[in-house]
Amino acid sequence: FHAASRAMPSVYITRRVPPRGLSLLQQRQMQISQWDSDAPVPQDELMKGVVGKDALFCLLTDKIDKNVIQAAGPQLKVIGTMSVGYEHIDLAECKSRGIIVGYTPDVLTDATAELTVALLLATSRRIVEGAAAVKSGEWSTWAPLWMCGPGLHGATVGVVGLGRIGMATARRLRPFGIQRLIYTGRSEKAEAKEVDAEFVSFEALLQQSDFVIATCPLNEQTKGLFNMKTFSQMKRSAIFINSSRGGVVDQDDLYTALNTRLIGAAGLDVTVPEPLPPSHPLLSLANCVVLPHIGSANNETRNTMSALTAQNIIAAVDGKALPAQLTL
Ligand code: NDP
Ligand code: DGY
Repeated sequence: FHAASRAMPSVYITRRVPPRGLSLLQQRQMQISQWDSDAPVPQDELMKGVVGKDALFCLLTDKIDKNVIQAAGPQLKVIGTMSVGYEHIDLAECKSRGIIVGYTPDVLTDATAELTVALLLATSRRIVEGAAAVKSGEWSTWAPLWMCGPGLHGATVGVVGLGRIGMATARRLRPFGIQRLIYTGRSEKAEAKEVDAEFVSFEALLQQSDFVIATCPLNEQTKGLFNMKTFSQMKRSAIFINSSRGGVVDQDDLYTALNTRLIGAAGLDVTVPEPLPPSHPLLSLANCVVLPHIGSANNETRNTMSALTAQNIIAAVDGKALPAQLTL
């Protein structure tokens, strides 16, 4: 029995996932149990599903807390999340139990940067509002002062968190003829030179940017970073774009800032909660574009994320180096 279970390690997958990862796990002859649905697994089902498993294939919508990890049992060797963000996993618990954590950096960078630029343009050039006006009949004529918004040419763009996605976004924005690229974070980045980006304080970034883009992770320092105090420091015309995590924004403060025109507009790919209820005040504002967390949502990218998650899991159960292991 022991030899057989060693030969066939088990994995619990918390959702229907793109096929490439699933095929790899099948090829490795892992015993697969899966929450076979497009909806998130309820927490009590997750707690049952992980019991006795060697590996857990999870998503950012799953709360992998101490209870889940404990419920799995001491044989749990690896948690592979199909995301680059990892704030949904209790890493301290993983570390103390020697559980390896795999994630999916790099493979979603281009897709997320592309979406960030799309969201920025949709927000500044009022694309969603304009398209709605066409459908509703509000479009009466071509009008010199109608549906205008700020352009990127000559603008100062501020990136909060010049990491993989921040850099890829900066590279895509340079060809629009932006004048200055500034960034802030915990440390200065050598790669900033490539996009001629200048390291500034958070306060200077808020004061000087025409576009403020959040591409940082959600952590203790970034939680609620964008609030009334920081919106007040931005230009009144500023466009705020968030493709990081909803938790970096105080949404009540954002609503007030947008409603009172303390800032110009906001584009959010991420919110708290997700999904944002259709009755949420932010959705009543013309100067707020909200997308359903689709930064990495291109077919190839999601398939690659699924494959990398499986490769991380397989490497861990085989005692090999993971292609993308999180340092705990
Ligand atoms: P990286 O780790 O490469 O980049 C994050 C950057 O943020 C780093 O440069 C880091 O540098 C910086 N940072 C960390 N803490 C702070 C802080 N307190 N203030 C400012 N900057 C900070 O990650 P990725 O670029 O790969 O991903 C970033 C985040 O994007 C993910 O964590 C995830 O939350 C989100 N994401 C969202 C997606 C979507 O669908 N919308 C898709 C993919 C990712 P330093 O530590 O030196 O400050
Ligand atoms: C991540 O990977 O963290 C994104 O939010 C979804 O791809």
